[in-house]
Amino acid sequence: MRVLLTGAAGFIGSRIATALTDDGHDVVAVDVMLPAAHGDNAEPPEGVQRVDVRDAGAVASLLDGVDVVCHQAAVVGAGVDAADAPSYGSHNDYATSVLLAEMFAAGCRRLVLASSMVVYGQGRFSCTEHGVVDPLPRTRADLDAGVFEHRCPVGGEQLDWQLVDEDAPLRPRSLYAASKLAQEHYALAWAESTGGSVVALRYHNVYGPNMPRDTPYSGVAAIFRSQLEAGDVPRVYEDGGQMRDFVHVDDIAAANVLSVNANLDGFNPANVCSGKPISILEVATELCEARGEAMPVVTGQYRSGDVRHIVASPAGARGLLKFNAAVDPRDGLREFAYAPLRG
Ligand code: UD1
Repeated sequence: MRVLLTGAAGFIGSRIATALTDDGHDVVAVDVMLPAAHGDNAEPPEGVQRVDVRDAGAVASLLDGVDVVCHQAAVVGAGVDAADAPSYGSHNDYATSVLLAEMFAAGCRRLVLASSMVVYGQGRFSCTEHGVVDPLPRTRADLDAGVFEHRCPVGGEQLDWQLVDEDAPLRPRSLYAASKLAQEHYALAWAESTGGSVVALRYHNVYGPNMPRDTPYSGVAAIFRSQLEAGDVPRVYEDGGQMRDFVHVDDIAAANVLSVNANLDGFNPANVCSGKPISILEVATELCEARGEAMPVVTGQYRSGDVRHIVASPAGARGLLKFNAAVDPRDGLREFAYAPLRG
């Protein structure tokens, strides 16, 4: 198939470009080369055209003969402050609305969308007494006392985490999350009104070679990796028991190839995860052990707004796409300990 791939120069997009080409697809690769992701005045790599998805004319000129659009281009990360809102709105949401309009005009009816676990806001929690509950927000008094788990809204018991499936409530907690969920909503409405099909891949914590170095927009894997490279040790917040699902960028690429090849109707969200939950302390420990350096420090500090646990169920993507992650995070993180970073 002919696939228009946006964000093709990025950490994830560049891996998808290779995987799609290896699978026999004809890839039209574009990227706007945002300075926050690529540095100032960066030129697109070979085979990638500089295109801003907000530019309707440019997008229209690329869609001739395109069967599927694989839309990875986005401003990512949690953002620094409210000043980032127009950037998320413009690059993530306005650009997606332009893309969908031009796909409609060109008769292209299939979209694979890079979404994120952040659309859920937080994970799923259960109480030994009261079953699955909507947890109370964590209080400053609890956090200051080193009580990091959420409490039950009925009896105040500390809660356990559970797997999040695609039917979980969607409750964005950051500007980035709001922009990713809005992308999903635009895509869903477009699918319903045009008869088009969408696969919205909700990436969990992605890591792997060529991940951008530590920036205000980076997740914890890049931060720990950069600390080790600088001769520091990872600083683990809370008690290190925060649970996540770390998924290798090659598995993200594989999920995109399966989505491009899938023949689905309507709007289909799918978690993309390893299916092997890991704590933040284990992540730091794997990286330190692989490098043979000093062990991480658990600081007990906390960041307001951090999610305590969010761990995906892999079942939906297995049923929908036959996707099973190939990389066990404990192996992948050990390799990542020495993998090159970009930027
Ligand atoms: C992160 C991203 C989010 C992205 C998602 C999926 C950020 C800030 N968050 O969410 O935008 O969509 O992954 O890829 O980019 N921690 C430490 N030490 C540190 C930094 C963080 O212990 O130096 C802890 C945090 O307290 C948190 C956990 O690591 O408990 C994960 O942090 P982080 O990767 O920033 O955020 P996520 O919620 O996983």
